[in-house]
Amino acid sequence: MDALLGNCSLDQLVKRKSHKWRTYPPDVLPAFVAEMDFMVAEPIAEAVREALAIGDTGYPYAGELGEAFASFAGSRLGWQVDPGRVFSIPDVMTGIAELLVAITPHGSGVVLNPPVYGPFFLRLGYISREVVEAPLSHADDGGYDLDFEALDGALGRSGVSSYLLCNPHNPLGRIWRKDQLLTIADLCQRHDVELLVDEIHAPLALGDAQHVPFASLDHPMAERAYTFNSASKGWNIPGLKCGVTVAGSDAAAQVLTDRWESLLASHHGVLASVAAFTRSLDWLDAVRRQLAENTELLARLLRERLPEVGYMPGEASFLAWLDCRKLGLGDDPAAAFLDRGKVALTEGPYFGSQGAGFARLNIGTSPELITEAVTRMAASV
Ligand SMILES: Cc1ncc(COP(=O)(O)O)c(C=O)c1O
Repeated sequence: MDALLGNCSLDQLVKRKSHKWRTYPPDVLPAFVAEMDFMVAEPIAEAVREALAIGDTGYPYAGELGEAFASFAGSRLGWQVDPGRVFSIPDVMTGIAELLVAITPHGSGVVLNPPVYGPFFLRLGYISREVVEAPLSHADDGGYDLDFEALDGALGRSGVSSYLLCNPHNPLGRIWRKDQLLTIADLCQRHDVELLVDEIHAPLALGDAQHVPFASLDHPMAERAYTFNSASKGWNIPGLKCGVTVAGSDAAAQVLTDRWESLLASHHGVLASVAAFTRSLDWLDAVRRQLAENTELLARLLRERLPEVGYMPGEASFLAWLDCRKLGLGDDPAAAFLDRGKVALTEGPYFGSQGAGFARLNIGTSPELITEAVTRMAASV
């Protein structure tokens, strides 16, 4: 592994006190929640250390965040962003929930594409919005695809106010193509719905895969969309609490300005995000190279040791969606892996009913720990 990432030694990792490392007893290898095991980028550590050293522990000030994100979006995502339209948020889920409360009617429907990130369902429940499902379809190659007929039907249902699109998609790691985004844009425009786009995994596009930010499209919906991004996945700093929302128009920006008090990020998260977007790109590239290798390693390990498990390597990020239906472990194979193999994956049904028989494995770690995870999974079947 690149020296920038450390060596993911278990002796060190078990000292961490985060959700990933403390939820299960020490004999369980955690490979569930989306935290990576690499060392933090030095410019990020330095930014937080410097603040602590001078007692700079107050409330956040956005400062350079808009420029920092705009420079990252311009150089890495091919997207020209007006820094004045970039707003800090405490985290992506809070940003999404607050915006839905602000711009959609109480009780209205929000369209999702399951299987999809479980907290989407939870948050919509917390804010009394109805989940309207437009499930992904199964593609010929064993993967998934967007189902535009289902999406059209869902967006047209009475009471639907909005669409929450996840791109790159969690748990698949799929990056939706530009022509697909344009079809989405046409559908949203025709049905006159609000559009929120969660692009939190975009900094982790792997290899030659290119993420196209929705707001970079030449389409009227680009102005209407709210984009969510963050350094929290790409640079593994969810504990520092800062994400960004980019408003597509001045009117959208005003909505965010008005809600500043419910969207306060952590001061250290803002400082860390600036360091990430501007001074930690070599670290990001080291992670992207490692994750590309990890997806190949996982595919090979599964072929050798668990050939019944279906896996389509993702084009982004560090989450592997495993089709375990042929293993005969029921709706929740993760429960069997935990119980018999002492390895913790995320339960498939957490991503919607379409996740029955699946599990999600976190491969944001070293080749050694991925090998150990698969060895434990194989031992449990
Ligand atoms: C698609 C997606 N959105 C949001 C989040 C959560 O981000 P945050 O911690 O910024 O709320 C995650 C975390 O894994 C995610 O995968």
